[in-house]
Amino acid sequence: MIEDLWYKNAVIYCLDVETFMDGNGDGVGDFVGLRRKLDYLAGLGITCLWLMPFQPTPNRDNGYDISDYYGVDPRLGDLGDFVAFTHEAKLHGIRVIIDLVVNHTSDQHPWFQAARKDPDGRFGDYYVWSKKRPKDANKGMVFPGVQPSTWTYDKEAKLWYFHRFFDFQPDLNVSNPEVREQILKVMGFWLELGVSGFRVDAVPFLVELKGVKNPGVKNPYALLEEMREFLSWRKGDAILLAEANVTMDEVVEFFGKNDRMQLVFNFLANQNFYLSLTRGDATPLVDALKESPDLPHTAQWANFLRNHDELDLGRLSDEDRQEVFQSLGPDKGMQLYDRGLRRRLASMLDGDRRRIELAYSLMFTLPGTPVLWYGDELGMGENLALVERQSVRTPMQWSPEPHGGFTLADKPVKPLVSEGPFGFPQVNVAQQRRDPASQLNWTERIIRARKECPELGWGAWKILRTSNKGVLAIRYDWKGNAMVVLHNLSSRPCTVKLDTGGEEACPLYNVLTEDHSEPVDGKRHVVTLEGYGYRWFRVGQDNPARKHKAEPLR
Ligand code: GLC
Repeated sequence: MIEDLWYKNAVIYCLDVETFMDGNGDGVGDFVGLRRKLDYLAGLGITCLWLMPFQPTPNRDNGYDISDYYGVDPRLGDLGDFVAFTHEAKLHGIRVIIDLVVNHTSDQHPWFQAARKDPDGRFGDYYVWSKKRPKDANKGMVFPGVQPSTWTYDKEAKLWYFHRFFDFQPDLNVSNPEVREQILKVMGFWLELGVSGFRVDAVPFLVELKGVKNPGVKNPYALLEEMREFLSWRKGDAILLAEANVTMDEVVEFFGKNDRMQLVFNFLANQNFYLSLTRGDATPLVDALKESPDLPHTAQWANFLRNHDELDLGRLSDEDRQEVFQSLGPDKGMQLYDRGLRRRLASMLDGDRRRIELAYSLMFTLPGTPVLWYGDELGMGENLALVERQSVRTPMQWSPEPHGGFTLADKPVKPLVSEGPFGFPQVNVAQQRRDPASQLNWTERIIRARKECPELGWGAWKILRTSNKGVLAIRYDWKGNAMVVLHNLSSRPCTVKLDTGGEEACPLYNVLTEDHSEPVDGKRHVVTLEGYGYRWFRVGQDNPARKHKAEPLR
């Protein structure tokens, strides 16, 4: 069994170069600025950065509309700055993965420009066309309420083109073998420049081939295998992390049999976590976790609380979603696309440290690899004055200085959150760094603990019964070591009786504090948790190092 799958215990941190740190004083974050902040990220304990798109772009969807796959947006630097950055990240022990946005290009991409000029020419079949407006053109929009249709008439081509996202993002025909070759070429380019893999955008659409008249392939999932195979040949330890908000039945296809995506975001656990937190009842989350299929050896879940998009609650029932809306974002202006919330975690939880810690402690201990959204380690909030998903994409809050220390320019690329309890004068790195009790320092400590518990990333897990439905208890087993983690999702303190699931009676050693637990009543434990309390225990026995003290390790 290969044990050097680094991503099983990575701590991933997602950021947008544009809003992280301005290194040249022009108001826009850039690679020079990001490079300067590598010490900060290494200090926090991050082991892998996920960079959102930074390529040349008309920038109408925050860079997810790429017009050149082989360059750097000149506002952020150039390829030299990119390589200087990946090189230095490596010296800090930090890997870099980047977004791979190949479901669509920008309409300004030369391929689309050539295709619309000459739909019968070489690039015509790169996109998805129709002579007539398809009947289902007003169905399946990813951004309902903002984007009215999935087909748009192009005057130049005199044809309709397909786009699941905005009309300036024409879908590529990924069943065209030439397009597939282009995708691999893009991957090969960035791998050569030092990245350790890709967060693959919109994967369910890459395997759907909707609207394609004569698909060039029979099995659309073969693309994922081609990508994985190519990746392994070019860089053996590189990864594919899929954005795939799909059901547990479907997700099996995305992992494949160790031959498709290594990591898939657990959207179902994410949405049910928020329902559980709203109700103070672990049941929805437990049900979501129990639905997870057994994963192949190289596969792993990626867990997150918030990301750069809306908090998508589309997989909850209408009533359940409304319940979460009422609790975490009751105003219409906080909601988006009829399914989500455009808020950050800390503000949704009213800055309540108990709930914020509970949420992160849980995210760091759910089966899988944790993924953080920049600024959430401080408890940044959103700016609802910005449109749609921009609300959660404001510049990083470094200090109480003007523009939060993000830039020396008069006008930052996006306005910061400057007022109220989450404004940069209150919430910033400089102040939290000096305060041992700050959320930043708490996050640093919990990340250190997470890295010291490889069982969580590698282990076989099972949910333990507790006598209280507010409490989620998970046991992990790996190489003769075991951990038990407890989270009380309710505001009410409680005492739970716990059978740790092992063979023998043994103590539970608290990994975070001195508060250990001895078995009572046979091998059961009785643990008292505060409202929103959490415990990480290492199970005291079954440790081979202790059992076979004298035997040298082979
Ligand atoms: C993904 C991204 C989102 C983007 C969309 C189109 O869903 O997460 O931000 O708008 O793809 O590329």
